[in-house]
Order: sequence, then C-alpha cells, then structure tokens
Amino acid sequence: MRIDELPTPALVVDLDLLDANIARMGAAWPGTRLRPHAKAFKCTSLARRLADAGHTAFCTATLREIAGLAAAGLGDDLLLANEVVDADRLRAVIEGAPDARITIAVDSVETIDAAARAGVHEVLIDVNVGMPRCGCDPADAGRLADAARARGLVARGVMGYEGHLMTEPVDQGAKVESAMALLLDAHDQVGGDVISGGGTGSWSKNHWVTELQAGSFTLMDTHYEAAGVGFAKAMRLQLTVVSVNGTGGWATADGGLKALGMDHGNSSIDGADIWYHADEHTVFSMRDGAPLPAVGDRVTVWPAHVDPTVSQHEQLWVTRGDEVVDRWPVDLRNW
Ligand SMILES: Cc1ncc(COP(=O)(O)O)c(C=O)c1O
Repeated sequence: MRIDELPTPALVVDLDLLDANIARMGAAWPGTRLRPHAKAFKCTSLARRLADAGHTAFCTATLREIAGLAAAGLGDDLLLANEVVDADRLRAVIEGAPDARITIAVDSVETIDAAARAGVHEVLIDVNVGMPRCGCDPADAGRLADAARARGLVARGVMGYEGHLMTEPVDQGAKVESAMALLLDAHDQVGGDVISGGGTGSWSKNHWVTELQAGSFTLMDTHYEAAGVGFAKAMRLQLTVVSVNGTGGWATADGGLKALGMDHGNSSIDGADIWYHADEHTVFSMRDGAPLPAVGDRVTVWPAHVDPTVSQHEQLWVTRGDEVVDRWPVDLRNW
C-alpha cells in the first residue's frame, strides 16, 4: 500500500527517520544509559526497535505501559517513573509479570506503603528538582529511602525529572546543572547505582544522570523542533481535504482535535496557515498566493506534541518513502 491509499486520519512514521533518531541518541547515550520513555510512543513494536538497538531498559508513566512491555517480552528493566497509591492494581501488574524487573518511583510513605503491599521489590526515590509535580523535597530523600528499606524494599537510587527546563531558552545548561545538584544531593543520602532523569530537551545538556529518560526524540514534534533539539520529525498526520471554499479562501481536512494533542498549540502544515482545529476538522488557507488544494487531495500535518497525539490513535503506519511497510498497534494506550 502507498501512503496516499491509507484511510485518514492516519498517523504515519518514517522508518528511516525513526532509525536515524535512535542512532543519534544512542551515540550519546548507548545501551542502558538511555532508558527510553514509552509514554511518548505507547507502542511495543517501536519499543522492540529500541531494544534491538541495545536500549533494553524502559521508562513508563502508566501501569498499562508496564504490563504491556512485560507481556511483549520487554521486561528486562522497567521503571514506572510515576507515583501509585492503588496497591491492588499495582499488585495485579506485578503478579502478572513474574519475569519482569519492575522498579517503582516513590515520594511519600503512602507510595512506599502501596509498593510494599503490592509485592514490589525495588524503588527509586523520586526527587523534586524544580518542576511542580511529583517528587519529594531533596532533603527528605534519605528519610524516605530508610522508610523503604524498613519495609523490605531495595532503594536502587533516585530519579528527578527537570521537565520545566526541557525547552528553556536561557542558560539551559546552567539551570539543568542546578536542578541536577539537587538530585545528586538526594543521591548522596539514598545511595544506589541509579541516578535517572532528563529528557529529549536536555539530552545534550544533562551530564549528571546515569541514565536518560527521553522518549519524544523517537518521533518528535514541532514543539521540540522549535527548541532546536536536533532530531528529525519522524511522525506526521495524514489528512484528506473534504471541502474547499474557494470564495472564502479556505480548505477543510478530515481530522482535528480528536487526532492531535493540542496542549502545545496548533499543529503545522507546510506553506499554509491553520485557522483552527475543530473536533473532526482542520481548517487552513495557503500562504503567498499558492492555490488551495482540491477536494480529495492529501495534506500532511505536523503535530505539536507527540505524546497526546499518539495516544489518540490505534496504530502507527510505518513507511519507507511512499510505501507503507508495516502497521504498529498503539498497544500501550489507556491506563
Ligand atoms: C518522568 C519523565 N521523564 C522524562 C520525560 C522526558 O520525555 P521527553 O522525551 O518528552 O522529553 C518525561 C516527559 O514528560 C517524564 O514525565
């Protein structure tokens, strides 16, 4: 099948660009120095491609991602970089993946309690390094590690995600260094082999973590492209023009809010201005006097945020040139 024959909206992944992104990141963060974050792509087939390139340890945000990766035989070293208080659900996932190595982030006595009751063996102390989200006060990391050990858990080390600095335009390196100083201080209290953090926006600036938790670099989006992170946009949304208003000067394509993550703003169409995305439509006009497309023409849309775009689709259509060479289910969707 050719790209133009796909039913739209279709999320399309250029395999050569994906492989180039993996190779570029792998040159800087080889093997398990990279812990690819599955939240970005939610797809075990893509995770397998990373594992085949030597990146066999994965980061996740949901229990569904843990269970799915383990079931796909990708459970060498799975980190849930997120807090869980539902011990029953956690236990079901742990018991359902007896061959997987599963480490859980904890930042409170409550999450330590849930991990212990669920039968988890290993934890990372999640440290707040400046972004208001999860993570303990750095000064509290030692106390929490002791609390975890008292419950029979092994503290493998620390994690701290400097998400507020991913697209920081001013003195990013110095700011990442300050954030990581907090993490290293926490690590001094906790011990262990693991200092986990970082992402696509800090991959070339974070020199302090033992493993990088990046995921977006695989498929990319216009938000990270604008920040100049240095990876190629390997994923796009293919739409079909379903209506053209020549008098008004706009065209309407067959996918919108329900096919695109919108928290980073509108997506982009080369040579066009997007007027707005509606539930099932994208309305756009052409720049510089270029003619409007015709009804039935295909249009390529570049998503602004990869994670919430992928999670709205059932599959990634994998392409080489104009040919569709594979269909990868987005099998880690939902929770
Ligand atoms: C805990 C954690 N680590 C790392 C990342 C980095 O991901 P990205 O590759 O999108 O920068 C994220 C992104 O949200 C995250 O939540």
